Amino acid sequence: MKRLLIIPLLATAANAAPVEFTTHIAPIIFRNCAVCHRVGEAAPFTLTSYDDVKKRAKLIAKVTHDRVMPPWHADKSDFAFLDDRRLTPQQIDLIQQWVAQGTPEGDRAKQPALPKFPQGWQLGKPDMIVKMTHAYSVPAEGRDIYRNFIVPLNLNEDIYVKAVEFRPSSPSVVHHSLFFWDTTGAARRSANASGITRFTPMQRENKGTGQLGGWALGATVRLLPEDLAFLVPKGADLILATHFHPSGKAEEETSTIGLYLTKEPPKRAFTGIQLPPAFGALAGVDIPAGEKEFTVTDSFVLTSDAEAFGISGHAHYLGKKLSMTALFPDGSKKNLVSINDWDFAWQEQYTFDKKIPLPKGTRLDARVTWDNSATNPHNPTNPPKRIRWGPQSEDEMGSLTLLVTAPDKSNIEEINRAQVQHVRDAGSAAIARLLQDRNGGGTLVSVFFKNNDKNGNGKIEREEAPRWLVASFDQHDTNKDGALDEKEIQAAQAKLFQGLRVP
Ligand code: HEC
Repeated sequence: MKRLLIIPLLATAANAAPVEFTTHIAPIIFRNCAVCHRVGEAAPFTLTSYDDVKKRAKLIAKVTHDRVMPPWHADKSDFAFLDDRRLTPQQIDLIQQWVAQGTPEGDRAKQPALPKFPQGWQLGKPDMIVKMTHAYSVPAEGRDIYRNFIVPLNLNEDIYVKAVEFRPSSPSVVHHSLFFWDTTGAARRSANASGITRFTPMQRENKGTGQLGGWALGATVRLLPEDLAFLVPKGADLILATHFHPSGKAEEETSTIGLYLTKEPPKRAFTGIQLPPAFGALAGVDIPAGEKEFTVTDSFVLTSDAEAFGISGHAHYLGKKLSMTALFPDGSKKNLVSINDWDFAWQEQYTFDKKIPLPKGTRLDARVTWDNSATNPHNPTNPPKRIRWGPQSEDEMGSLTLLVTAPDKSNIEEINRAQVQHVRDAGSAAIARLLQDRNGGGTLVSVFFKNNDKNGNGKIEREEAPRWLVASFDQHDTNKDGALDEKEIQAAQAKLFQGLRVP
């Protein structure tokens, strides 16, 4: 009997059941939108009341339908993400129906309360707050600016950091900031009176320096999973490597950084596996004007057991699709992340709901696709022009970074050793490509002779040596005959390209 009653009710709901703000729409907006669309946060207007939402109802129907809002660019993958912000098709449909029905308010008594949002710091009051020592002036116009700032931490003991929250004073010009620590004093030695230093400890092999993650516009701050933390040794300075993008208006930036600490030493180590490495610097990113699908792929086989806990992508305006899959030793293949409508404005760090076991031998396959056609609405140049890898926003970069941990520190050390080799291999391939493209092939030595042995006697005399070789000429002239032969040039290059297998 009951059953018979329910069916006709559902049928009317699908057709024209009234959709009201207080019962249907407010719960969606308050949960999925108000976190940014409230006073003091990143979004340009608030969505915290009926009037707010009604005023922009048509635009809200459009941006939710097109999945522009809420910003979340990862498609549903084989593994769930924490705090997935995407709306369900039913929620999107409800918003469309509500707008079609003229945005009725409904019974005010039924409206849910706004969630309790943290004010200011997203993770609550930090254990330690530090600030840039001097304001940095960003001009109204001009190219992108990269600056490294030294921020003394004055630590008397080692600390274990669970999260770093970055609050720019001028969010409109700060595009991203990467965080490092340095105990070598190198950053201090090269710092000027305004706290700007030339030093970035990017190399993971550097002793006495380390990374602390980073911040980018649109990213959500999270604590590291329970058994992980960054160790920052006593005496370390913090270094912010910040990328500014002039906004049309001169701004002053004084970033504030909150550190969230734990007393517990971390039980596990972790690392990031970046594919292709160096944000794609060695991957031959050279995108012809008009090319709709320029793709770079890179693969890395895990040399030790690991567990993945997070993933992120990075590309600039022309980035279109970024994905990473895992091919397991048993032959099964799973999708780790798949972003099919990359947006430079939203550099989200995705955290997996549960750690994903990746046994030794698992192959990670990354794929980045750029769209340099006039139909890409994000293309900053019209008509499109050839774009290569580079640090400016108008240049391109592209890579995915998988965060992995393991029960034992030795697993992570093993993976990092394999990564160093992976970067060297990418460097060797990049040199081979340069030889091919610029010189029509040949070995580095043969090309060197072709370009420098002007008198063609098979030796490089002092007058023929390029500038980088002049200072160390005598050192490389091991047989002391006043000229460098093929063997001596080969030895000099081996020194220059340490660890690379150059052709
Ligand atoms: C993570 C923060 C965040 C969340 C969550 C978020 N927004 Fe936004 N929203 C922004 C920011 C920042 C902008 C302005 C920059 C932009 O347009 O990209 C914006 C812009 C908008 C715009 C203006 C778009 C335009 O074309 O002018 C609308 C409408 C909007 N959001 C609606 C929503 C709705 C509806 C939701 C929830 C379903 C939502 N937003 C969730 C941050 C957010």
